[in-house]
Amino acid sequence: MVQGTTPVFGIFGHPVAHSLSPAMQNAAFRESGIEGIYVPFHVLPENLEPAVAALVPMGISGINVTVPHKEAVLPLLDDVEPRAGAIGAVNTVVVREGRLVGYNTDWLGFLSSLDLDLGTHPEGKKVLMLGAGGASRAGLVALAERGASEITVANRTLAKAESLVKDFAVLYPDTRWSSIPLEEAMLRGVAPQVDLIVSSLSAGLHSDQILPFPWEEVSASACFFDMLYSPTVTPMVQQARNQGLVACDGMGMLAGQGEEAFRIWTGTPAPVGLMRRILERCRTVD
Ligand code: ATR
Repeated sequence: MVQGTTPVFGIFGHPVAHSLSPAMQNAAFRESGIEGIYVPFHVLPENLEPAVAALVPMGISGINVTVPHKEAVLPLLDDVEPRAGAIGAVNTVVVREGRLVGYNTDWLGFLSSLDLDLGTHPEGKKVLMLGAGGASRAGLVALAERGASEITVANRTLAKAESLVKDFAVLYPDTRWSSIPLEEAMLRGVAPQVDLIVSSLSAGLHSDQILPFPWEEVSASACFFDMLYSPTVTPMVQQARNQGLVACDGMGMLAGQGEEAFRIWTGTPAPVGLMRRILERCRTVD
């Protein structure tokens, strides 16, 4: 029950109507018995600054930040956790003694899904990352933080992959970094050596959008992770599975980032498996 003392959390996004975070977070508050309510806020880009400035005066305890605000919110915060700084994006803000502290929990959600859904870990692995945007940066921080030995970033706009690799090579010198254009012939050269392929491409929910990927070149022991989440299996996950690879989509990452946000806000782990169950239910309803 919401009372005068109930801590308020929420999500800032544009659009926000289809966000599954309110269902996940409110279920976690209910099931854990921790007092709190989580509300969607439709915040237009031009209103981000006043909306963030209102958090402390309004007594809001914490928020998630989603598209298109994850990067723009950084300069509006008092402190940014170093990994969020490296990613250049914040998806979780906590109000601590009147100060706004920003975290990124996407990279931790990615790691927990690698473990739970693919049964793998980045340490010592050779990885091919498709894409060089915000989701890619979260994945790359996770992979490098946990000891991936080699990472190749493939991107349609090669200059973006090159500049990203340059930045990360300074931050994580123990990983060997390289970049290639997102072209089938180039992918064909890299595919046989990799242990893990990650797609952070924002296009790819429909089969006519996806790039021709040389699945037949990939080692049978490699895994595939598609950061996209949709009610049905994504076309790339389907292709990888057809090739006999262990593959998953972004559902586990979405649940994992939510669990980490809940833990940051409440100091208590989210009820085990609950957020995944909520997302599974949304899949079958859609
Ligand atoms: P996100 O925050 O979800 O990562 P983003 O930062 O816009 O979104 O990054 C999207 C990624 O998908 C980029 O790597 C983009 O490639 P470019 O840097 O060349 O734009 C990639 N992407 C999007 N649409 C694509 C398409 N049709 N073909 C190939 N790559 C695509």
